[in-house]
Amino acid sequence: MKIGFLGTGNMGGAIMRGYGKDAEKNGDKLLAYNRTREKLEAACAESGAEPVNSMKELIEGSDIVVLAMEPKTIRSMIDEIAADFSAGKLLVSVAAGIAIGFFEEHLGEDAMIVRVMPNMAVKIGEGMTSVSRNTKVTDRSFTKVLQIFEGVGRAEEVDEDMIDTVIGVSGSSPAYTYMYLDALARAAEKNGMEYDQALRFAAQAVIGAAKFALTSDESLDDLRKAMCTEGGTTIEAYKVLAANGFAADAAEGFQAAVDRSREMTKGK
Ligand SMILES: NC(=O)c1ccc[n+]([C@@H]2O[C@H](COP(=O)([O-])OP(=O)(O)OC[C@H]3O[C@@H](n4cnc5c(N)ncnc54)[C@H](OP(=O)(O)O)[C@@H]3O)[C@@H](O)[C@H]2O)c1
Repeated sequence: MKIGFLGTGNMGGAIMRGYGKDAEKNGDKLLAYNRTREKLEAACAESGAEPVNSMKELIEGSDIVVLAMEPKTIRSMIDEIAADFSAGKLLVSVAAGIAIGFFEEHLGEDAMIVRVMPNMAVKIGEGMTSVSRNTKVTDRSFTKVLQIFEGVGRAEEVDEDMIDTVIGVSGSSPAYTYMYLDALARAAEKNGMEYDQALRFAAQAVIGAAKFALTSDESLDDLRKAMCTEGGTTIEAYKVLAANGFAADAAEGFQAAVDRSREMTKGK
């Protein structure tokens, strides 16, 4: 299939570079267009995509168009995008806060639309992306979209009305994880360790804990209990964190991100 990237900034560029390594063996050809030519050429050189000269050329030459421009740009250019969009093409929108319904309104109700919500870790091939589709998207096309995002991490289908929740749990959550890592590293620094070294220890511990959580058959509670032996060190930290509302604080932060996402979708 011909997969075209419209916008090769942070997200579009990262997805293109990530999928670029698998594209040929999956029988796909990548095309790209970006407003600033130097950025386009750099992303194409690193992904094997072919740079094209206009948005029209990109859309006309692609079976799947990955729309990775800023939401306000997409809203202002949607009629221009729609004019070049013919039946049988699939649009994949990366844009935060723009619903599938917006694209159906402009591209027509028969248009195949997929909305994805990746996170910044796609840049290192460890992203988590939710993938939602309208009823027109065939299983074959949908499988191809999943394959693109599996090239930059994990990807799973969710209903579109779950996207705000996805933002709280994976879209924005790397930022809260950084707060946790920084707090651990600073506390270690106060106990005499170099900040950078402490950060490596803390970050590797988070990677290990996360991989365990993803691969173990045991619940998180059982994994935690296995570490919290009576009279040991971990249980002391657990008691303090639980008493100080660690879980409630994380849930409140999560909710604030979800609420803001719902406001953005309403255009606020
Ligand atoms: N960054 C994230 O963590 C993240 C997470 C989830 C979703 N998203 C979504 O991903 C989308 C892109 O975000 P981003 O962070 O990648 O933004 P970005 O780095 O600013 O990328 C946007 C790209 O679109 C290009 N562009 C703008 N107008 C254009 C036009 N008329 N024709 C062709 N290209 C044009 C820009 O070109 P120039 O080179 O000229 O600037 C830029 O390279 C947004 O809709 C955002 O909501 C981002």
